[in-house]
Amino acid sequence: MAIRRTNSPDLGGKVALITGGARGLGAAAAWAICEAGGAAMLADILVDRGEQTAAELREAGHAARFVRLDVRDEGDWAAAVAATVDAFGSLTILVNNAGIATAATIESLTVADFQAILDINLLGPFRGMQAAIPAMKAAGGGAIVNIASNSTRRVSAITASYAATKAALANITKSAAIHLAQTGANIRVNSVHPGPHATEMLLGDDGKADLPEVKALCDLIPMGRMGHAEEVGAVVAFLASDAASYVTGAEMFVDGGVTPH
Ligand SMILES: NC(=O)c1ccc[n+]([C@@H]2O[C@H](COP(=O)([O-])OP(=O)(O)OC[C@H]3O[C@@H](n4cnc5c(N)ncnc54)[C@H](O)[C@@H]3O)[C@@H](O)[C@H]2O)c1
Repeated sequence: MAIRRTNSPDLGGKVALITGGARGLGAAAAWAICEAGGAAMLADILVDRGEQTAAELREAGHAARFVRLDVRDEGDWAAAVAATVDAFGSLTILVNNAGIATAATIESLTVADFQAILDINLLGPFRGMQAAIPAMKAAGGGAIVNIASNSTRRVSAITASYAATKAALANITKSAAIHLAQTGANIRVNSVHPGPHATEMLLGDDGKADLPEVKALCDLIPMGRMGHAEEVGAVVAFLASDAASYVTGAEMFVDGGVTPH
């Protein structure tokens, strides 16, 4: 049988809502989506930073806007989806990227802290999927990319809460993927699992890459370095595109070989 031409990642005509899009991996996903021809609505609680990132995208000739969204707030979600459709005509890509990290062991973790991180890292994407799916159906289909972590497979003593939220996110991703495939919604759902990446989440606002903890982390990476945010952005753009038309319910690890090691 003849092999048909491979689809290249082309996001022309696609419209993405990207949570945590003000900075870090979310901003990198926005750049990758825009560079592939898509439009991006950045959504974040960091208003000044989000407006700045959207302005930088526009200065580079891309279609980008910012909307304030707290992923804990269902009203914000409804407004962000409506703002995206208003601005760009549809919503076809959701990148659930906003997240926080807390270090806690099974003994030090409090119920309040556990509930707080669950509300953002797990219930945030859940609310987002519920808010976005009707708009995607109205557009004829779409793609959802949930940013999990390689801590779904590689835990440590201090990931009692963080890794649990990410493992649950990967799990609900698969359930959503199966439901949306079986109901013919033409919406794919996948998770991306980054290893350590040089963002403010890991390095702090001052970006100190020379911390001993960070060096120890890098020593565990077969490729010998942390990832660049762009390397996650490229994978998000691929999964969001029709080039990944038969990929749903998948886990894509972007971690320099940590997980299989
Ligand atoms: N950097 C890494 O090494 C790494 C590794 C694995 C997974 N991740 C995941 O990637 C995602 C992005 O991380 P990052 O490294 O870019 O972190 P980051 O802290 O630089 O960015 C996270 C963004 O999410 C936003 N955010 C936080 N709470 C929010 C809320 N309630 N509503 C809306 N926005 C909110 C923040 O304002 C920020 O802009 C996170 O889900 C994180 O868990 C990161």
